[in-house]
Amino acid sequence: MDRRLGGGNSSRTKERWSVMTVLVELTEVRKLYNGGSPQAAVDGVTLTVQQGEFTAVMGPSGSGKSTLLNLIAGLDRPSQGRVLVDGVDVGSLNETELARFRRTRIGFIFQFFNLLNNLTVLDNILIPAQLAAVSPAVARDRATDLINELGLAEKQRLFPGRLSGGERQRVAIARALINQPLLLLADEPTGALDSRAGEQVMGRLTELNRRGQTILLVTHDAKLAAAYASRVITLSDGRVADDSRLKASPEVAASDIVRLRSGEAAP
Ligand SMILES: Nc1ncnc2c1ncn2[C@@H]1O[C@H](COP(=O)(O)OP(=O)(O)OP(=O)(O)O)[C@@H](O)[C@H]1O
Ligand SMILES: [Mg+2]
Repeated sequence: MDRRLGGGNSSRTKERWSVMTVLVELTEVRKLYNGGSPQAAVDGVTLTVQQGEFTAVMGPSGSGKSTLLNLIAGLDRPSQGRVLVDGVDVGSLNETELARFRRTRIGFIFQFFNLLNNLTVLDNILIPAQLAAVSPAVARDRATDLINELGLAEKQRLFPGRLSGGERQRVAIARALINQPLLLLADEPTGALDSRAGEQVMGRLTELNRRGQTILLVTHDAKLAAAYASRVITLSDGRVADDSRLKASPEVAASDIVRLRSGEAAP
């Protein structure tokens, strides 16, 4: 765990950590692909993600970023070690349990949107809610809110083929959020977008994070990571090479406010 924002043993720092909740906990996680290279794609990763953090995962091509995200999403299973998300041991779930885990706790955004081209924007956004058996009225209300927040009101009856890349990615964000996931995962969500659309998507994600959404995002773009994320984890050959907090996440900021109100000096 990065200690730059606290840690140590003083009661003040303990209090500081106590308001934070661990959402993701990886312990000595390794992933070897059957038939793949004998070198592990993820090779002994131990890390935690606190609720409310906006974390960017960086590293060269092949360093294990997508593998790491897929393990946390329950799209893949660790070969060794443990992946806990919201206290659930993801590697121990059977297929049915995994599907439920993904539907209820995880929102996933892909580089190339993965929208269904024969469904409208609105219907694409509604799919995960239907799969999770959310009542149609509740799903429609949530979809309407998301469509408005993401600036898609005029596009909701269109098919994805009529949208720009940035608009498609905003649809994918709405679809990822419709079941109100604890954790939003995004693998190169700006990779297929020009810089302006990419910044807009990052701006939307930042706004979501300000309202408390925990986000873990893979990006190649160091500038985007530095501008928007509160923490950057750098992978190299499947290992964590660096883990830096850049600015306070909302929960840390909230604990600062509590501390300041109680009259304590800053550490
Ligand atoms: N399904 C698979 N079967 C076998 N090997 C795989 C599989 N998926 C990934 N790998 C290997 O695991 C390693 C890590 O791949 P991963 O896709 O996690 O890298 P990445 O950091 O996301 O790269 P990129 O930036 O190019 O997307 C690579 O050596 C890759 O070849
Ligand atoms: Mg990748």
